[in-house]
Amino acid sequence: MAAGGAIVELQRNSPKWSNIVEGIVMLERKIFPKHESLARSFDEELRKRNSGLLYVEVNGEVAAYVMFSWPSSLSASITKLAVKENFRRQGYGEALLLEAIEKCRTRNVQRIALHVDPLRTPAVNLYKKLGFKVDNLIEAYYASDRNAYRMYLDFDAE
Ligand SMILES: CC(C)(COP(=O)(O)OP(=O)(O)OC[C@H]1O[C@@H](n2cnc3c(N)ncnc32)[C@H](O)[C@@H]1OP(=O)(O)O)[C@@H](O)C(=O)NCCC(=O)NCCS
Repeated sequence: MAAGGAIVELQRNSPKWSNIVEGIVMLERKIFPKHESLARSFDEELRKRNSGLLYVEVNGEVAAYVMFSWPSSLSASITKLAVKENFRRQGYGEALLLEAIEKCRTRNVQRIALHVDPLRTPAVNLYKKLGFKVDNLIEAYYASDRNAYRMYLDFDAE
């Protein structure tokens, strides 16, 4: 992965919890429009059982994060993936997504699903690069004028 940042899994009892969540909430506000942002509910989302967060910290600031959950044994989902603008195109997004896929794999789920706005070309390309397929287009998913692709990655039955 890019120099200057290791992937860390945020632990519920971590003394850094509020610091990290604060950093992520700031990025959420910056990167995502209101209706797509988890800024107001991030802490709550994260405290749910069956959810996890991986992040990369560079020089004391959160540079990138991915959030995922596994509500059932059938399917996990990637609920958020974002890289701060000045850290993009350095491999952080791909490294985080790969690690999140591995975390989900160890939960023995059969599939990972996610939603993404088709206009988010970098994200759609990244998901496709790591093997996600487009399932279908859901109209008016994020807002009346914003659609979503539902994408999925199936693990081979072993
Ligand atoms: C999508 C996002 C997470 C990618 O992070 P990143 O660290 O810049 O991506 P990486 O450097 O790891 O690139 C990995 C792959 O992503 C794709 N990609 C990344 N940026 C791209 C761009 N600007 N244009 C086209 N494809 C792009 C490519 O397939 C790339 O592989 P390649 O280098 O072999 O071409 C980042 O652009 C982002 O935070 N976007 C805004 C938030 C968002 O859309 N999140 C997803 C919806 S929840």
